[in-house]
Amino acid sequence: MLEDFSRRTFAKLAGLALGIAAAPAKADETPAQPAAGRLASGSFPSGFIWGTATSAYQIEGAVNEDGRGRSIWDTFSHQQGHIADGTNADRANDHYHRYKEDVGLIRELGVKAYRFSIAWPRVFPEGAGAPNPKGLDFYSHLVDELLANGIEPYATLYHWDLPQALQDRVGGWQSTETSKAFADYAAYVAERLTDRVKTIFTINEVGRFVNFGYGLGIDAPGLKLPQKQLNQVRHNVALAHGLSVQAVRAHGHAGTKVGPAENIAACLPAIDTPENVRAAEIATRELNAGFLNVILEGKYTDHFLAYAGANAPTFTEDELKIIGSRNDFIGLNIYAPQFYVVAAEHAPGFSVLPFPSSFPHMSSEWLRIGPETAYWVPRLAAKIWDVETIYISENGTSSSDEIRPDGKIYDLDRIMYLRNYLTQLQRAVAEGAPVRGYFLWSLMDNFEWIFGLEKRFGIYHVDFETLVRRPKLSASFYRNVIARNAIDV
Ligand code: BG6
Repeated sequence: MLEDFSRRTFAKLAGLALGIAAAPAKADETPAQPAAGRLASGSFPSGFIWGTATSAYQIEGAVNEDGRGRSIWDTFSHQQGHIADGTNADRANDHYHRYKEDVGLIRELGVKAYRFSIAWPRVFPEGAGAPNPKGLDFYSHLVDELLANGIEPYATLYHWDLPQALQDRVGGWQSTETSKAFADYAAYVAERLTDRVKTIFTINEVGRFVNFGYGLGIDAPGLKLPQKQLNQVRHNVALAHGLSVQAVRAHGHAGTKVGPAENIAACLPAIDTPENVRAAEIATRELNAGFLNVILEGKYTDHFLAYAGANAPTFTEDELKIIGSRNDFIGLNIYAPQFYVVAAEHAPGFSVLPFPSSFPHMSSEWLRIGPETAYWVPRLAAKIWDVETIYISENGTSSSDEIRPDGKIYDLDRIMYLRNYLTQLQRAVAEGAPVRGYFLWSLMDNFEWIFGLEKRFGIYHVDFETLVRRPKLSASFYRNVIARNAIDV
């Protein structure tokens, strides 16, 4: 389970050096100076994009319909012992048949945008070769329904459901054949949807599915590769990202925007001093060196390569050029603070502090509570990578979500979490961080990967027997934030 793996294990798999924890910087150092505020207290800029997010495998069901091929998650979830409650997503939310109802739920929130993912094996059942037009039809209808309801579609091309055929034939992401097949799939989708879908996210959370799927073996496809091969897998995924950015640009309608949706390793200054903020900047680059930094800078950092040594991925200069293709925006999935850092004299200039065992978390044990993550991450990312547009492509939390005798769900902990994270996000935006939109994870409860149906992240509750959806209190909270375009401070 996720909580069994410490940050140190995670960082090691990601090919990253943490440095040794040093004493925190002295408390009497001058605090970092924020830029002057520009927005009224609690307000977001006009035109700020409020949205919600889901992913294909987690909600669609209908795994054998209309020519869909198998994905690695179909295989993995059906193997015993992989999913905490023994469930799979064969039916999930049955969104495939209920998408019109679900678009209605989105509309009721007053959100302007919806981020969904496209299942690659619906569109190319074998991963490559002959497309399945019926597979794409589903998304085309969904997009039409969204637009008819005044909701802007944001599509993600890959949210972990790799066609099983590619895993079987070439070892999935172990081969650049998969990177190339992904680019062909991206081109095919871009040609057919970007007349209506103006924003494409390429790949969701490389930091999760590579390390957990190919390193720890706890996500699909369940492999435990040695470090060198793991670094190569990540490199192949970075190549797929770059190739797909180019494919969307070459085959999409003019003006289509494209970029990643990454669970950035969130590095925060433990205490807000200029030295520690600088350390957090260095840490953000170095602890994201294997994916986000290489796609944004077009090169691996010296520190990453030195730490990897003989385990460094094999690559060419041409590949780096592709990997470093310009992104129109970066999508950042923000949930928990991952690394609290302080300045250090040793290279590369930061140390990571250990978390006390009493550090609070939400219903999911991995989801530590650190609202200031929503402040520091966009602020640091904008500065380091000089990006003009950031989306918070996911943020949200699980909750125990008890149904009370009156039939209602008072998810006050989710509201607490959202209120605090949004307050910090507003602070970042008010200081000039270029965050243009926010996608709450998730629209509704769904199949939460290795946790099955046990963990609930939705602001709509789903009864997985009857498939009835009903709003939780957090849906009213979010509707109110959106209506006012502001958060109470
Ligand atoms: C994000 C993923 O990392 O976290 C989502 O993009 C996922 O797909 C969410 O549902 C919650 O993660 P988990 O592991 O608790 O299901």
